[in-house]
Amino acid sequence: MKKKILDLIKKKNKSKIVSLTAYSKNIATILDNFCDLILVGDSLGSVLYNYKSTRDVSLKAMIEHSKSVRMGVKKSLMVVDMPFNTYRNPKEALKNAKKIIFKTKCDAVKLEGGKKICKIVKTLVKNNISVMGHIGVLPQFDKSFKSKGKKILERNKILNDAKLLEASGAFSIVLECVESSLAKLVTKKINIPTIGIGSSNNCDGQILVLDDLIGLNPINVRFVKKYLNIKKEISKAVLNYSKDVRNLQFPLKKHSY
Ligand code: KIV
Repeated sequence: MKKKILDLIKKKNKSKIVSLTAYSKNIATILDNFCDLILVGDSLGSVLYNYKSTRDVSLKAMIEHSKSVRMGVKKSLMVVDMPFNTYRNPKEALKNAKKIIFKTKCDAVKLEGGKKICKIVKTLVKNNISVMGHIGVLPQFDKSFKSKGKKILERNKILNDAKLLEASGAFSIVLECVESSLAKLVTKKINIPTIGIGSSNNCDGQILVLDDLIGLNPINVRFVKKYLNIKKEISKAVLNYSKDVRNLQFPLKKHSY
């Protein structure tokens, strides 16, 4: 059965939320069996297109990848990142969020920022668009994955941003690279689920970029655990294929018309 936003919220304080990114149908089809939430992240800019920053990701690219992911998602919640410069004010955000929802049939959109975007979040929610927040490290605005929340001012800001996003109607918040004890405090102080990435197991759930987890994307950061070396597996298969082609072992009669 297709999960709803409320199902995700109800998981808070009961069971951990599992989420991953997907950029295409075939991957989404696999993840859909295991995830509560699938995010079409604008991380696709660096992972797939080698952009220096997610700022270069276009709305068109997000929509095309999301349409592909949509075909593979039957049960999980599907959330799509709003790319940089597509939500600078409530009017622009509403127009672009409506476009994303209409074209991709996703369940919600995700926006980066705290207090600064609260008016925008309120406008989207008022127009029946579900919004996921994203605070801590903001890849659209920050230059590195340096953790956030070690200094008192920064801690207060992150906690305040989380409370404001909840009050504005966000249904969940991604905490990226937030110091562990602050992630715990934020998770305790708000009633919507926090989804951590590099923010300890004190969050209500976790998210990772799938390509990082399977060793396809050559990233080396503390918060990624590599569960598979898919490059090795692909290399093995391609080596065998190349040998077969060169030795006339592929295609055989059974592969031919
Ligand atoms: O763009 C992305 O993939 C993300 C997640 C890593 C949270 O925002």
